[in-house]
Amino acid sequence: MRSTLPLVFSALVAVGFAACGDGGADTATAASSASSALSSSSAAGGTAGHGGALTTHSAGGSGGTGGQGGEHASSSVATGAGGAGGGCQNLLPAVTEPPAKLSETGLYADITTKKVAAYARAYAPQFSLWADDAKKQRHVYLPECGTIDTTDMDGWQFPVGTRAWKEFSLGGKRLETRMMVRYGSATKDILYATYQWDEEQTDATLVVGGAKNVLGTDHDIPDELGCRRCHGPYPAKGGLPSRFLGLDALQLSHDGPGLTLASLIAEGLLSSPPAGNFVVPGTAIEREALGYLHANCGSCHNDTSEGLLFPSFNARVKTTDADVVSTGAYKTMVNQPTQLFVGFGCNYRLAGGSTANSCSYVRMTERGTDMAPNLKQMPPTGTEVIDVTGTAALGAWIAILPPPP
Ligand code: HEC
Ligand code: HEC
Repeated sequence: MRSTLPLVFSALVAVGFAACGDGGADTATAASSASSALSSSSAAGGTAGHGGALTTHSAGGSGGTGGQGGEHASSSVATGAGGAGGGCQNLLPAVTEPPAKLSETGLYADITTKKVAAYARAYAPQFSLWADDAKKQRHVYLPECGTIDTTDMDGWQFPVGTRAWKEFSLGGKRLETRMMVRYGSATKDILYATYQWDEEQTDATLVVGGAKNVLGTDHDIPDELGCRRCHGPYPAKGGLPSRFLGLDALQLSHDGPGLTLASLIAEGLLSSPPAGNFVVPGTAIEREALGYLHANCGSCHNDTSEGLLFPSFNARVKTTDADVVSTGAYKTMVNQPTQLFVGFGCNYRLAGGSTANSCSYVRMTERGTDMAPNLKQMPPTGTEVIDVTGTAALGAWIAILPPPP
């Protein structure tokens, strides 16, 4: 079945986007090496606030090189620390190579006490990706020199230098910490790195090529291509131009704790701030199911330039979706026959009134290995355990949907 999938490598051609000026502003080579800049920033304690620095930056303008087209050499785009223009300086540089240790990535001010640096802001998406019961802790560093370009409210573009970390723990033990760095202004200019914790929990070490059953658990660490399957770019498509999957207007439309849409607006960190929170349309049952699909399926099944080419379906909720029937999930899933997944006893992506006839439900209750021998599971990667709560949320929606004609 998978061999019928078109592998469109032109997908790899980066779609340059109009950077808001801060992107390539500081093309001067960073004065300090990544590691020294990182350690000095930890020492600085990250107390610098965003507000003032942003104002300076806007005023300075600093004549950026803007949309760099996406094909530049990665080494030329170190920005931030030591940058030339506008009197604005980022605390952390936009590194293009991952440091060897998690302690060098800037997440922790003191890794022995697990004290997170002040500039690394905790946040949580209101709908999270199921990760086999692992607990997740998320932090983001938003560079002082830039704002999030929210011109497209459903496709935020983060400023060069943005870093995010996601840490997985099971039974109170840290297993893995993932990091993303936007190092250049093109959508493909993203560094993915991941670190495996040691048994003593003193530090975590860069993992290249993935790892299985970490620290005696069932938790697997994906390789870099694995990151790209969900975040993009990926040869067969998948991911979002934003690349940051849990940091969007809908996901941050909640009351906290941590960084939220409201706090980003209040701090002036959005280029086109909305009036306030967005709501996923529908009743509680509908919102649960739509939010679940948005977070767990929408990174691959979406209608952006990065979404899966085939089959085309869109599981993401948009900020402009006024009611349930306007959502991509309703229009492209409900009572829509499956195009590829045929001959497995179900006929629709979602069939009103029947979980057995809803291939999305069926595939969510399948688990095998990532690929062969079980090609049925959805999402196809990142999980080995059925998400009982998520499956029930989808089942509750299916129960109230109208049956297929
Ligand atoms: C199965 C799909 C999937 C895979 C594989 C995956 N991610 Fe993610 N990742 C997500 C989704 C969805 C979110 C947002 C939801 C959440 O945080 O629960 C996310 C969130 C993150 C975040 C927080 C910033 C953000 O995008 O919201 C980081 C950092 C991250 N992932 C790094 C990585 C790295 C590095 C890898 C590879 C080692 C990787 N991810 C593999 C789907 C995936
Ligand atoms: C990492 C990317 C990825 C994620 C995340 C993902 N899918 Fe898929 N999905 C695919 C690919 C690739 C295909 C096409 C090949 C296949 O059918 O296995 C597909 C196909 C499907 C199909 C068959 C559609 C048809 O018309 O034949 C269904 C149903 C489906 N996915 C449901 C889901 C659901 C539900 C989720 C979330 C719980 C999800 N997928 C998450 C990659 C993904």
